Amino acid sequence: MRRLDDTGPHPPTKGAGLRLAVLSRGPRLYSTRRIVEEARRRGLRVDVCDPMKFSLTISDGSVDVLHKGEAFSYDAVIPRIGHSITQHGVAVLRQIEQLGMWTANSGQGILQSRDKLHASQILARNRMPVPKTAYVRDIIDVEHAIEMVGGLPVVVKVTQGTQGDGVFLRHTAFEVRNLVQGLLLTGKSVLVQEYIAESHGKDVRALVVGGKVVAAMRRRARGREFRSNFHLNGTVEPVDLSPEYAEAACRAARVLGLNIAGVDLLEGANGPLVLEVNSSPGLEGIERASGVNVAGAIVDFVMEDTAFGDVDLDQLLRTVPGSGVLSLQLRNHPKMVGRRLNEVFASIPVFALSRGDRLVWNPDPEMQLRFDDVLVCYGELIQLRASLRKAMLSMPVESLGSESSVQSPASLSDHPEDS
Ligand SMILES: Nc1ncnc2c1ncn2[C@@H]1O[C@H](COP(=O)(O)OP(=O)(O)O)[C@@H](O)[C@H]1O
Ligand SMILES: [Mg+2]
Repeated sequence: MRRLDDTGPHPPTKGAGLRLAVLSRGPRLYSTRRIVEEARRRGLRVDVCDPMKFSLTISDGSVDVLHKGEAFSYDAVIPRIGHSITQHGVAVLRQIEQLGMWTANSGQGILQSRDKLHASQILARNRMPVPKTAYVRDIIDVEHAIEMVGGLPVVVKVTQGTQGDGVFLRHTAFEVRNLVQGLLLTGKSVLVQEYIAESHGKDVRALVVGGKVVAAMRRRARGREFRSNFHLNGTVEPVDLSPEYAEAACRAARVLGLNIAGVDLLEGANGPLVLEVNSSPGLEGIERASGVNVAGAIVDFVMEDTAFGDVDLDQLLRTVPGSGVLSLQLRNHPKMVGRRLNEVFASIPVFALSRGDRLVWNPDPEMQLRFDDVLVCYGELIQLRASLRKAMLSMPVESLGSESSVQSPASLSDHPEDS
């Protein structure tokens, strides 16, 4: 990894000459400036484009993107979408994706990581450790929520907050109720969360770029403050991440579909807990604390990766009329657990099997099915659903159990990825 103080000319690389757009409202912001600087050093042609200056048009079968009235055409796009313009920024990004341009983070990844509830749901579903969290829709849910997360004190937070705004520590049920009531009245979505006392006033921020942690820092709050955000005047210091923490950060970024992410980890008594994942992480604190040229690492990743854009497989496969992807969770079919794949799915095209942290492509027909497995099948949807039903019905009666264990077509998930 290149250090921050290494400002010499950059050796020529194969991505030089690439046209890069940074989507950002603030060309003078530290992070934007640093990315532009490192891109220019590497011979890229780079422009900063304001996401609010785009116009999008959609007409029969085609989409168009204009920036300040000009056609928007770049080889790669790094989105730095501010929280206040998430919806609009993501709409622009989605249209850019549809034109086939490479984007460092996808609109979908940004959207799902910005909502703290949605992000926690995806993380938990992918077996990532997260603080116990309850979603509160009504003031009458408060007592139950406190109990559910393990009792007082609790952290109350709004689902769409950032930079510590909308995050509170409360010690009595009365205080929690008052606060939640106020937040609900202003239309906020509210979470009540287990307070991780071991991590009071500090957390770890890991910067993940292209599946690797390129830099990390510990952040500490000042004085009586319990939130350690850099923008709340928190201090930053270097930290050596253990493999367990690095792995948690990479996995969190991956399951949320982000190539570039700032992952906040709390240091729980039993190891790392993923607090949140930021899709436009600030670079100032982390470059200062770690001494690592993070902006350079981001641009290097862009140059390496532009040749291999991500594909939304589900969407792509749906372009064939009637075709699509179905996933089947074995946990919903306990009778199949322990049987071999070819016993149950002899004539069904299972093209992937997700097991724990692994994804097995074209799984061996002799593989024995486990409770946590998720099977992914591709084909003509009507036929696929019928074959799956047939496979379930044709299982031996004693292993099939009651009629109710036969999955109806509606209960087959149409999405291979957890989302
Ligand atoms: N459950 C918790 N237990 C302990 N500290 C927390 C908890 N939730 C948040 N914090 C502290 O508050 C800070 C901000 O919370 P976070 O959920 O990351 O919101 P934001 O998006 O505003 O940064 C964290 O960096 C951490 O220091
Ligand atoms: Mg945070």
